[in-house]
Amino acid sequence: MAGRTVVVAGFGYCGRGLAERARGMGARVVVTEVDPVKALDAVMQGYTVTTMDEAAPMGDVFVTVTGNRDVIGPHHLARMRDGAVLANSGHFDLEIDLDSLARMAVEVNPGVREQADEYVLTDGRRLLLLSEGRLVNLGAAEGHPAAVMDLSFAVHALTTAWIAEHHGELEPGVVDVPDSTDTEVARLELAALGVWIDSLTPEQESYLRSWHV
Ligand SMILES: NC(=O)c1ccc[n+]([C@@H]2O[C@H](COP(=O)([O-])OP(=O)(O)OC[C@H]3O[C@@H](n4cnc5c(N)ncnc54)[C@H](O)[C@@H]3O)[C@@H](O)[C@H]2O)c1
Repeated sequence: MAGRTVVVAGFGYCGRGLAERARGMGARVVVTEVDPVKALDAVMQGYTVTTMDEAAPMGDVFVTVTGNRDVIGPHHLARMRDGAVLANSGHFDLEIDLDSLARMAVEVNPGVREQADEYVLTDGRRLLLLSEGRLVNLGAAEGHPAAVMDLSFAVHALTTAWIAEHHGELEPGVVDVPDSTDTEVARLELAALGVWIDSLTPEQESYLRSWHV
């Protein structure tokens, strides 16, 4: 990755981690976004932020992590460098427009490397698609380690218990996980990691809640 230009589409929870890891491996990271706040956040962290139109001819590696569809479309594919690598780490295999990629290809060489298919375009450029555009960290790697999933599963379990207790008070719709659940899971994980943090004194708690100096 060192010296390569990695384009990360989406600077949400996943994208920012991906961008940080790519930078940590020596890549030059370019971020694309649609949310001005997220885009500004990326700018303030020192990333180059631009549109996918502009990023398309710059990138050696593209990773989409938006949860959205057609983030990389035919007009982007048409401008990419020979040898560009395409991957998706968002939710489904529609962040990269695979139908257009297949339509634009005059030749497809599946499995040129494990989990890598080569698409040869009319002008001879080759684009490499990892894991058929499905979640690349699951398809081309070993997925999430248990140490990552146990946090999610703890939140799922505690939230399920919370729903069982409170379903009578809930309106149909999407409801946020209660802050108390997130806090409890973080507290337990910190303890498991042997990390201890300070707690607020009653005076500090009341000071933070008051308007008085
Ligand atoms: N690969 C994995 O293991 C894994 C793990 C968790 C979540 N996910 C998936 O990854 C995706 C992102 O998750 P998240 O938690 O980071 O979500 P998020 O909402 O925090 O971030 C998504 C970002 O993409 C941006 N975005 C939307 N459309 C865009 C577009 N056309 N171009 C550029 N940016 C665009 C949004 O503004 C947002 O900032 C989701 O689909 C989620 O299901 C994958």
